[in-house]
Amino acid sequence: MNVRTTALLLLSYVVQSRILAETVSSTTVTTTADLIVADGYLSEQHPVVTGDGYLLTLFRIPGSPRNPPQKGKSVVFLQHGVLCSSTDWVIMGPSSSLAYLLVDAGYDVWLGNARGNTYSRQHLLDDPSKVKFWDFSWHEMGMYDLPAMIDYVLDKTGEVSLHYVGHSQGTTSFFVMASMRPEYNRKIRSMQAFAPVAFMGNLKSPFVRAMAPFVNQIEWMMRMLGVNEFLPNSEMMALGGQKACNDESLFQEVCASVLFLIAGFNSDQMNRTVLSTILRHTPAGASVTQFVHYAQGVNSGRFRQLDYGVLLNLRRYGSITPPNYPLELITAPVFLHYGDNDWLAAVGDVQQLERQLGNSVGLFRVPDDRWNHLDFTYAINAKSLLYERVIELIARWNVPI
Ligand SMILES: *[C@@H]1O[C@H](CO)[C@@H](O)[C@H](O)[C@H]1NC(C)=O
Repeated sequence: MNVRTTALLLLSYVVQSRILAETVSSTTVTTTADLIVADGYLSEQHPVVTGDGYLLTLFRIPGSPRNPPQKGKSVVFLQHGVLCSSTDWVIMGPSSSLAYLLVDAGYDVWLGNARGNTYSRQHLLDDPSKVKFWDFSWHEMGMYDLPAMIDYVLDKTGEVSLHYVGHSQGTTSFFVMASMRPEYNRKIRSMQAFAPVAFMGNLKSPFVRAMAPFVNQIEWMMRMLGVNEFLPNSEMMALGGQKACNDESLFQEVCASVLFLIAGFNSDQMNRTVLSTILRHTPAGASVTQFVHYAQGVNSGRFRQLDYGVLLNLRRYGSITPPNYPLELITAPVFLHYGDNDWLAAVGDVQQLERQLGNSVGLFRVPDDRWNHLDFTYAINAKSLLYERVIELIARWNVPI
């Protein structure tokens, strides 16, 4: 891709993403709460304010008619990945979704929503039309969103600690929190990390690989044009996604979804009926900076804070490069669940993470050669290949700390 093509693409990106933004906000979609109720479970919705003023929405499934809510249930907190939302954990329906399986096993289940997604688009002072609203990456999710949500859940339930299950960015932000605010480690009974993303030097996604080297130019151009929310257009995706779409014969809707272009697609494990629901709920919103921060990780091979360039780094961090996240300070027990065919959490990168974590319990491979990044939430066989084991691990580690 030469510079001129990149520039043209970006220009059309900007124009089209604005049009798309307007269409998206004018259509109504079923919420996570609607899905939970339709599936026969109890649903609650809770607003949470972060230390820096964002209003987040938590959903709770305190029980079901078969498993009524009661005091003293152990808590499991589920945190979604990038461009996704709380919907991910219930989208496969009863008897397949992790959230429901946990409720059936007797847990009090809470679903988080990071700033910027469908359910967390409010701020005490700013709103999503303002540049300032989008001034965050997953660093801020780890520093503010997760601590605020975890404290809220513990306060409401009267528990002292909980189990955390994160997918993709839900693991990245956890590693930020547990390394930068280590006092939160004692609130975590176990951390089940699905497709853990910290190091990205071995990342395989052709789309992300194609874009990452241009991250500075892309960011500069977007800032100049006042684009802060990440809403990719069809041309940009067609270009980056060509390889992806040639590799496997996919349907149009998959090639047209940025989520699958970034993360890959495993057609054996995809339920066609569920796919249309997924496409209605994603992309659920993200800032440009979240992707810039990830792309920097692809380029540097390090898991570290946002790179602002030499001068601003010196002012902000007192060093010319950003500091690494101190993973050795994470003392919560971490279970790393990975897949062989994961485009974003490559096996080598997960192994490197395992070596650096302060208290890794171990690596848990999903026993399927084609297991991809999104299979952790969407695969037809997720229950037998992954969730049953995870529920067993949670039960075994379910002791207050
Ligand atoms: C696909 O999803 C639908 C709707 O949730 C469900 O009825 C069906 O059993 C699923 N198919 C498979 C193979 O899991």
